[in-house]
Parts: sequence; C-alpha cells; structure tokens
Amino acid sequence: MSKDLEKLTIEQIRNELESAYIYLGIAAAMEAMSFVGIAEWMRRQAKEEVEHGMKFYDYLVSRGVKIELLPIVQVSTDYKSPLNAFEVALNHERKVTGLIHKMYDLAVSLKDYESQNMLNWFVTEQIEEESQTQHFVDRLKFAGDNACAILRIDREAGKGKDS
Ligand code: FEO
Repeated sequence: MSKDLEKLTIEQIRNELESAYIYLGIAAAMEAMSFVGIAEWMRRQAKEEVEHGMKFYDYLVSRGVKIELLPIVQVSTDYKSPLNAFEVALNHERKVTGLIHKMYDLAVSLKDYESQNMLNWFVTEQIEEESQTQHFVDRLKFAGDNACAILRIDREAGKGKDS
C-alpha cells in the first residue's frame, strides 16, 4: 500500500471515531431536551461510526500496515434544536463523503484495486447516510414550530424509522 493512502486510511479511522463522538454529543444534547427518540437514533449512528472506524482498522491490519491512533478532538454537546442537530450531522456526513472520495481518487490513481474494492462499501454507505439525514432535515423543516409534528418525528426516530 502506498504511504499516502496508508496515511489517509489511518486518518479515516480517526475521522470515523470522531463521527461517533459527534453523534454521541448530539445524543447527549437531545437527551437533555427529552427528545429521547432522536437521542436513540443518534446513539445508533454513533455505534455505526465505530463499526466504520473498525472496518478501516481491520483493512490496515489485513494489508500489514502499522497502525497509528490519532487524537480525537472535544465535540459539542450544545444544539439548539433537533433541526440544528440534524443540519450539523448532514454537513458532517457531506464532509466524510468528500474524504472517502478523496481516498478513492488516490486509490484509482495508484491502481490499488484492493483499496478501491474496500472503499466501494463506503461510497455506497455514504449515499444512505446522507440520504437518511437529509430526510430528517427536510421533515423537521416542514414541521417548523409544530410541537406535535416534532414529537412525532422524535417517536419515529426512536423506532428506527427515517420516513
Ligand atoms: Fe461513517 Fe456517517 O460515515
């Protein structure tokens, strides 16, 4: 594996675990506001992000790369509303998609077929991650200040629904 792609993959372990931390920060904020369903949804996302980080970790192990674990920054636990929280999550997912695409571009230019194969899973996953987060942003915008509508979205989020 090229040193440049090794470096990006090591950084991506950190980025995915940082994503988990961001979702956990949002969960904490939602819990404080008693949006227990959205908090549950965010907790599930946090767990998924840890799994994503472990996929990159396992991949580096399988390629015989020496792994470094980079520091993770402190994240916010202050969000003013569910809409604000989902907007932050969506922007973050878009950023992650850009990082995955950057890795993919490098893997293509290096003719690293193994890495391209591994990254294909993430390219597909990011479509789902962005789509389900966008869906909540759209619905919460539509709900506006309607407390009943927001509480319904909260309840559905807790059941694992995104529509
Ligand atoms: Fe691991 Fe939400 O991207």
